[in-house]
Amino acid sequence: MVGLKGRPHSLPVQFLTNRRASLSCVRSSRPANMTQKLVACVSAFSDGNRGIGYKGDLPWPKLQGDEEYYRGICKRTVDPNKKNGIIVGRLTWESGGAESREERPKEATIVISRSLSKDTRGCVAVVSTLSEAIDRFMSGPGSEEIENIYVLGGTLPYQDAIQDKRCSRLYLTRVYQDFPCDATFPAFEHSFHRVTDSGVDDCVREDNGVKYRFEVWERNVSGAS
Ligand SMILES: NC(=O)c1ccc[n+]([C@@H]2O[C@H](COP(=O)([O-])OP(=O)(O)OC[C@H]3O[C@@H](n4cnc5c(N)ncnc54)[C@H](OP(=O)(O)O)[C@@H]3O)[C@@H](O)[C@H]2O)c1
Repeated sequence: MVGLKGRPHSLPVQFLTNRRASLSCVRSSRPANMTQKLVACVSAFSDGNRGIGYKGDLPWPKLQGDEEYYRGICKRTVDPNKKNGIIVGRLTWESGGAESREERPKEATIVISRSLSKDTRGCVAVVSTLSEAIDRFMSGPGSEEIENIYVLGGTLPYQDAIQDKRCSRLYLTRVYQDFPCDATFPAFEHSFHRVTDSGVDDCVREDNGVKYRFEVWERNVSGAS
């Protein structure tokens, strides 16, 4: 799903309809005072080897429907005056151009890196851990502008999010084909269960000869962490 580059900004009608319904579902799970922000991972991974990336890019050929779905989640807000907080590791950040990121007014990005300069262009902050990034979007400078928080990879940010109880939801795309990979999606099934989201059409899709399906998972309320 991510590299950040080349993602369309507009959502076709069928996805727009789906995402509206889906976001109303997200909204209804929040407290009435609407202060609680959703923290969710958004990822596509291969069903067999769990691959997410290869040589700095996606393992599979372009999946147009998945790109539109992913872009729709990241840019859509209920409050038109707000934007979403995006959290990425350095390599995922470097897989997209600063120019394309600056064209996304509905997104503010924090990069996790111990090597990038703190004043890196195109992001609101560079921090050392996922927890710091979530803290900043929850209550740091500019946090009042942030509606939801999406972790977009790679492997370690996903792993940290799965262990962080503030991350309550996974928007996953299961790709039904394996490709060579050097980055993978971590195990999550012990802490999350799959849910039916009336706004997300989970039919099997196909682009460029590759089959895939959207899945929504939510954190188990009690028991295993
Ligand atoms: N399929 C998908 O949905 C999807 C999503 C995202 C990415 N991808 C693909 O996955 C690949 C990139 O993912 P990746 O896992 O290799 O790299 P990554 O997580 O994007 O970046 C790794 C770097 O981020 C920093 N970092 C991340 N987590 C950290 C932590 N817990 N503590 C300290 N630093 C941390 C470090 O930067 P410093 O070295 O600067 O300290 C580390 O070297 C690419 O091929 C990309 O296209 C695919």
